[in-house]
Amino acid sequence: MSNAEDHQGTRRDFIYYATAGAGAVATGAAVWPLVNQMNPSADVLALASIRVDVSTLSAGTQLTVLWQGKPVFIRHRTEDEIALARSQDADLDSMPDQMARNENLANPADASDANRTLDEEGKWLVQMGVCTHLGCVPLGDGAGDFEGWFCPCHGSHYDASGRIRRGPAPENLPIPVASFVDETTIQLG
Ligand code: FES
Repeated sequence: MSNAEDHQGTRRDFIYYATAGAGAVATGAAVWPLVNQMNPSADVLALASIRVDVSTLSAGTQLTVLWQGKPVFIRHRTEDEIALARSQDADLDSMPDQMARNENLANPADASDANRTLDEEGKWLVQMGVCTHLGCVPLGDGAGDFEGWFCPCHGSHYDASGRIRRGPAPENLPIPVASFVDETTIQLG
């Protein structure tokens, strides 16, 4: 019997809060093996989905949670951030990656900001916190030349929608399957 099957009977959703431990993942461009050392237990890794309480996440802040052993950035964007990301859509034709990289979408061939956010208004951007080059954890909070995320490992710049704009990373930050299960809870997976 596999590990996952072992836990079928007792599987439950874990809720991560914005703890110091979770925040620490976001504070540096940690090389992936470093993050890997912070892996949750095998039980947590086995979970297909987790629920995240975002009730305390104010606009302009970001929460990093570990899901299936990888960091996920949950950002509550300000009106200015939304406007910036949507204005950056003007460069869509020249972006290195033309795909949304959004697992929620049936048709992912549209990298517009509206196609990457969790809600129609664009307040919530949920994406994997793993650089698509070699797997470092990018810096956030408006970092880089495009005011989004920046991976200093080899200099990849992502914009306010998490789209790769410059540097060696080949793809936009991937967006996992995610949804709101109530007004303040996001489910990953
Ligand atoms: S791992 Fe991010 S730029 Fe190389």
